[in-house]
Amino acid sequence: MLILGIETSCDETSAAVLDDKLEILSNVVLSQDEIHASYGGVVPELASRQHIVSIGYVVDEGLRRAKLTVQDLDAYAVTQGPGLIGSLLIGLSFAKGLAFYFDKPLVPVDHLEAHIHSAFLENRKIPFPCLALLVSGGHTSLFFLKEKFHYQLIGKTRDDAAGEALDKIAKYLDLGYPGGPLIDKMAEKGDPRTFSFSLPHMTDQSMDFSFSGLKTAALRTIKQNRITKSHPSFLDLLASFENAVIGALLYNVRRTIKIFKPSALILCGGVARNKKLRRDFARLAQKTGLPSFIPSPELCTDNAAMVAALAVEKINTGEELTLSLDLNAYPRT
Ligand code: KG4
Ligand code: ZN
Repeated sequence: MLILGIETSCDETSAAVLDDKLEILSNVVLSQDEIHASYGGVVPELASRQHIVSIGYVVDEGLRRAKLTVQDLDAYAVTQGPGLIGSLLIGLSFAKGLAFYFDKPLVPVDHLEAHIHSAFLENRKIPFPCLALLVSGGHTSLFFLKEKFHYQLIGKTRDDAAGEALDKIAKYLDLGYPGGPLIDKMAEKGDPRTFSFSLPHMTDQSMDFSFSGLKTAALRTIKQNRITKSHPSFLDLLASFENAVIGALLYNVRRTIKIFKPSALILCGGVARNKKLRRDFARLAQKTGLPSFIPSPELCTDNAAMVAALAVEKINTGEELTLSLDLNAYPRT
């Protein structure tokens, strides 16, 4: 069986072809970073317009790299939500059109579930129960998986997502967009002990996250110390802020491990590309005696391979295949 995955939930247009053994035959990701860079963040209207321009080309390229034609495909998988509604609708409508024309099944996929499943794509034997930390530009959530496809939301951000906080600080300092990867690179040369930011704590003992207070504290520090790109403490500020964000993420992971006693840890989502987070997460897992699973960087940020992979797994577990033309996109979980 060959399946084409399509992902257009935010500002990446992506198409991938996988077989039923989860082998990735192609995974094309066309980023819109250049389009949104001058705005310092994703402009939803521009994102959906660009998906319309790119989607045909990206799907074509996905098939070309897999050395296949559209007639070779047996099923389609597409991100249904959550995400930007205009962007989602482009991918969904395109996939519906293909499925209708070729009379093949269409599997709708949840974006967050696909991110979590990017870990299973490279590691087939992740033990259950496991704990998944999903950190991206739109989400920061902790899920407990008692078994495959069984998700319990343990905590989520009450305001900004971790990636959003990194992007906003980078925007304020005029570093470029997306800010996460830039901070990742620059922070390596800074001293994270220079500025201390206190960890956000929930008064109700919940495992929820909050990054807007941390972001405001960083902005205050930047203003008070008049930090710009040429300031001697510029890199130290970035390292300290990155360290605080990672500290807040891992603080909740540590607490959740104690209560839920998982057998494995998963780190996924765009921010999981961050080198320090990957290192610190693996170190935390080691200290607690748990195996940790972190997808390759290219499978952390939005991509269609994770979408097709989740659909393959669902098909392999016997999920009924249909072509439902009344599928609709959903912006929120
Ligand atoms: O998963 P993703 O591609 O899209 C969403 O579903 O949101 O994540 C994008 C986020 C952005 O906030 C971006 O700045 C962040 O992931 N990101 C990183 C790195 N690479 C991407 N953050 C920190 N370090 C990185 N290396
Ligand atoms: Zn994502």
